[in-house]
This record gives sequence, C-alpha cells and structure tokens, in this order.
Amino acid sequence: MKKKSNNFNLILIFCIVFCSFSFANNLNTSFLDSIDSLKKYYISLFNIGAAINKDIILGLDMESKHIVESQFNSITPENSLKWMFIQPSPNSFNFKDADKYVNIGLKNNMHIVGHVLVWHSQLPDFMQKIESKSEMNNHFESHINTVVSRYKGKIDAWDVVNEAFNDDGSLRESIFYNLLGNNYIEKAFKLAHDADPKAYLIYNDYNLYKTKKRGGVIRMVKGMKSKGIKIDGVGVQAHWSLNHPSLDEIEQIILDISKLGVDVLFTELDISVLPNPWELVGAEVNQNFSKFEGDPKMNPYKEKLPKSIQNKLAKRYKDIFKLFIKHSDKISRVTFWGVMDKHSWLNDWPIKGRINYPLLFDRKYQAKKAHKALIELGSINND
Ligand code: XIL
Repeated sequence: MKKKSNNFNLILIFCIVFCSFSFANNLNTSFLDSIDSLKKYYISLFNIGAAINKDIILGLDMESKHIVESQFNSITPENSLKWMFIQPSPNSFNFKDADKYVNIGLKNNMHIVGHVLVWHSQLPDFMQKIESKSEMNNHFESHINTVVSRYKGKIDAWDVVNEAFNDDGSLRESIFYNLLGNNYIEKAFKLAHDADPKAYLIYNDYNLYKTKKRGGVIRMVKGMKSKGIKIDGVGVQAHWSLNHPSLDEIEQIILDISKLGVDVLFTELDISVLPNPWELVGAEVNQNFSKFEGDPKMNPYKEKLPKSIQNKLAKRYKDIFKLFIKHSDKISRVTFWGVMDKHSWLNDWPIKGRINYPLLFDRKYQAKKAHKALIELGSINND
C-alpha cells in the first residue's frame, strides 16, 4: 500500500514539473507565433540570417531562439567560433559551444555560417605573444585546418579573413601580416578550401563604402582569382547609422564587388540610432571612447526611443532593403548582427553602457516598426 502511494506521489511530482516546464516555454514564446516571418518573403531572394549569441546557443534565451528559428534561414555565431574561444591555449580546442551552435543550424535546416577564422581581434593571449614566423605559421595552419575540418559538410560558409585592410586600401599591419607577409590572406583561403572543398569562402570587412578601402579589397580579389584561388564572396559588415552611408554609396559597393564575379553579402547589418563619437566611422572593435561614457548627449534615448526616430529607423531599413531587392541577383545573404535590441553589441560599442535600438525586435521581443516595414516591402515584392 505504502509503495503504491509513493509511486503516485512520484507521478504527481513528475506531472507538475513537466507541465510547468512546458507551460513556461509556451508562455514565453507563444506570443511570437503571430509575428509574420521575414524568411517567408526574402528566402527566394537571398539567405536571411541573424548572429546568435551564447545565451541563444545554450538555450538560455528561448524567446530569441524562437525568433531566430521562425524568422531566419541562416545563422552566424556572434562570438562562439572566434579564436580566443575555440583555441584559448595552444593546441587546446574547446568546441562545446560551437558544436551546439552548429546543431541548431542542422536541426533547423539552416544555412550555417562560420565566423571567423583569421582576425586580429579576439585572439587568445598566446597568439598575441608569438614572435617567430614559423610558430605563427604552425598555429595558422593548424587552427584553420582543425576548425574547418571539424565542421566539414556542416558549416556552409566561412568568413575566412576579417578586416585585413586599412581605410586607405593598404594591408593592416596585423600580427598575421607582420609575421607571415602579405600573402597570408591567400594562404588562409587555400587552407580553408583544402580542409573543406565544398565550403563557401568569404572575405569580410567594414567601411567598404570608402572608395580606397574597397579598392584594396578589389585588388586582392582580382589577384586571388587570377591565381585560381577560390573566393566566393565579399562580406560587407554593414554596421551603419540612420544617415550613413548613403544609399548611393551602398549601391556602389554592390556594383563594384559583383563586377569581380563574386557574390556580395551583408554579413553584420545593424543601424545605430545614437550619435557617434565625432571621429568615428566603421567598426574597429578595439577603438576606445571611454571619455564619452556617462555623457548624456551620447545616450539620448535612455528611457525609450521617440516615435520619430522609430519611424526613421523603419524608413532606413526599408530603403536599404529596397536596394537589396533591386540587386538581389548579386547578393547571396543578408544577416542582422543580433536578434533583439537589448543584446546588441552596440549598447557597449563604441561607448559602454548606452541604450541603442539597432535591430528589428525590441527589448520585450516585440517586432518593431522596422520589422513591419520589411514584411510589407517583402510582401509587395512577392505579389
Ligand atoms: C563583436 C561582438 O558582437 C561582440 O559581442 C564582441 O564583444 C566583439 O565583437 N565586426 C565583426 C564581429 O566581425 O565579429 C564583431 O562582433 C563586430 C564587428
């Protein structure tokens, strides 16, 4: 008799835990089901994606995960595949989060992006201390080979090299350039291609609206093509603001890059509504503007975004997407750098601790006017 009641208690506890768990999940995400889906309208034109952070990857932010799965057909890891997280100390790899990231993409049949193999930022300490060419060369080869091989046939596209150029079109004097010389970019592409011959390979950078910088990238792509080195696309980061760059400047990027016979990708789209420190354009993550921290003029929408700016943001996104639709034959992917405003890197860059509103979903996971504007535009285009 005692045994029976024990069993009954166990079943009861199980039911309560199970029911409250599924109730909580439904409660959190069911309101998102009524939001019309971007991918429904844009997938026929280009892949449409979002960068996902660690909380989404680990299932700690189920609302954002739900948005990603319902709105987008492509994902990029915001940080989880960067060198400092993947290989924090020499030859010791940590694939835990990256594996989970890839599994989300596989489960949802998504176009999975690998970001990033070679970049001067977010390197582990040991890499920054390397002084010899041969040591750098060994790590360079083994990192690219190990990471790309692990996800062969799973990660569809790689940002092979990120931000290798200065604004004047010369090569940035990064640790890779200084130790390996100016053909390190070609080398990285060859290594990635050898490790996964079917992977789609991208060069990625910011400020490509600047003619001189774009010129440097164009020369590099031409050089690689003339040597038969595989490069499939140029990624335009697109960390832009309400008025900058102009639509003409954006269109010129699309025209000039596509002429090279490679795709154009907008890989990190977000639109800052906040004032920039006056000397700043672009997305150099190491720039430090701490002197502006706490300055109310630099953080004008602390409580909420005024309607007029919300409308401006929606119009800006709509104008940009009109251009993307016009040139969709040249564009293979558009990826937002994040899912919702609260988690955008632009709250802390270039000035820490601000309240920015650069994405399509607000701090309560509600679709913003900008989202509605893109749905409206997409639906007209699909008619
Ligand atoms: C950013 C991430 O969003 C932040 O979380 C991180 O602290 C710094 O890097 N260009 C890139 C991205 O290629 O990897 C950067 O991501 C943003 C600028």
